[in-house]
Amino acid sequence: MSPSPQPAAVTDSPFLRACRREPGPHTPVWFMRQAGRSLPEYRQVRAGIGMLESCRRPDLVCEITLQPVRRHGVDAAILFSDIVVPLAAAGVDLDIVPGTGPVVAKPVTALADVEAIPKLSSEQVDYVAEAIRLLRPELGATPLIGFAGAPFTLASYLVEGGPSRTHAKTKALMYGAPDVWHALCRRLAEITLTFLRVQVDAGVAAVQLFDSWAGALSEADYRRYVLPHSKAVLGGLEGAGVPRIHFGVGTAELLTAMGEAGADVVGVDWRTPLNVATGRIGADKAVQGNLDPCTLFAPAEVLSAEVRRVLDEGRAAPGHVFNLGHGVLPETDPDALTRVVALVHELSAR
Ligand code: CP3
Repeated sequence: MSPSPQPAAVTDSPFLRACRREPGPHTPVWFMRQAGRSLPEYRQVRAGIGMLESCRRPDLVCEITLQPVRRHGVDAAILFSDIVVPLAAAGVDLDIVPGTGPVVAKPVTALADVEAIPKLSSEQVDYVAEAIRLLRPELGATPLIGFAGAPFTLASYLVEGGPSRTHAKTKALMYGAPDVWHALCRRLAEITLTFLRVQVDAGVAAVQLFDSWAGALSEADYRRYVLPHSKAVLGGLEGAGVPRIHFGVGTAELLTAMGEAGADVVGVDWRTPLNVATGRIGADKAVQGNLDPCTLFAPAEVLSAEVRRVLDEGRAAPGHVFNLGHGVLPETDPDALTRVVALVHELSAR
C-alpha cells in the first residue's frame, strides 16, 4: 500500500482530529447514508440508472458523494458505493433490488460455493479508484471516507440470498458447518481488504468497516465466529495511515469485543448512551454516533434536545464524531439534517 498523502487541511480537519482523539474547533458531523434517497438531487441524477450501474460510473459517484457536502456542510464525505460492490466486481452474481437490498442469485450453502467465489483483483474496481481521484480536488479540505462490508454482514447476504431479519440460515451454517463458515469469512475478509486497500491507495482519508448485522450475535458467538475475520481486515490496514472506523447496529453487548477488532473509532447505535459505550470500548478509542435517525422526524425542540444530549454524553469519550446511530432514512427531510449540522457546530464550538 502506498497511500497518497493528504493535504494539510484534510489532516488537520475536525473529523480526522476527532478520529485521532485530538481536540478540534468543534465536534465533526457526518451521516451514514447521507449520499442517497433523502436528497431530491440524488433521486434526479439516479433516475433510470440501476444502483450497481451508478456505482460503476465515476462521474456519478463523484456528483452523488458531493451532494450532501454541498447541501449540509458536513465535516466528511462518504464515497457513494455499496457493500456488495466488490463482490459483484469479483464476479458474484447479485443485484441490488430497490426497496429490498442485495439479492444473490446462488446462495452459499457448501464449501464448493465458497471456493467458487472469485478473489478480487484491484483492476476490477478501477472505477472506484478513478472516482476517488476525481473527488479529491473537488472536496478540498473535506476528508473522504471509504468503506466496505465486514465479513459477517457480507456472509449474511451471501448465505441468506438477500436481507434477513433472523439470519437463521447464516447461523445454521456457522453452527452446523464451522469449517465452511470460516472459509467463507476468510475469502470475504480477503476481498474486503483488497477493496479497502484500493480506496486507501487512491486517496481516501479514513475507512469505515460496516458490520451492520453483527448485533444479531451473542458476544460469545461474535468472538468465536466473527472477530478473527474482522481483525484480519482492520489489522491488514495497520500502518496505512488512515483511521479505521468499525460500526454495527444493536451491538450494545458487543462493544467491548468490537473494540478489540483493531479500529481507531467505534460506531455506536442509538440504544447505548455514548458515555456508557465509552466505558465498554475503552478510553483509547474515539466513538462515532449516535442520534436515533427517527428523531429527525420529531418536533424541532425535541430534535435539538437530543442533539444536545448526544454531544453531552460524547464528551465522556476521548474523541467524538457526531453521526446517526444508523443510516439516514429515505423519508427524512433534508433540511432537518442541515439543521443538525449547524446545531452540532454551534453547540460544540470551542
Ligand atoms: O452512506 C452513504 O451515503 C454512502 C453510500 C452507501 C450505500 N450503501 C448506498 C446505497 C453505504 C455506506 C452503503 C452501505 C451498505 N449497504 C450497508 C451498511 C450500512 C447500513 O445501512 O447498515 C448495507 C447493509 C448495505 C446493503 C444495502 N444496499 C441495503 C440494505 C440497501 C437498501 C435497500 C433499499 O432499497 O431499501 C442497499 C441499496 C443502497 N445502497 C441504496 C443506496 C443509496 C439505495 C438504492 C437506491 O437509491 O436505489
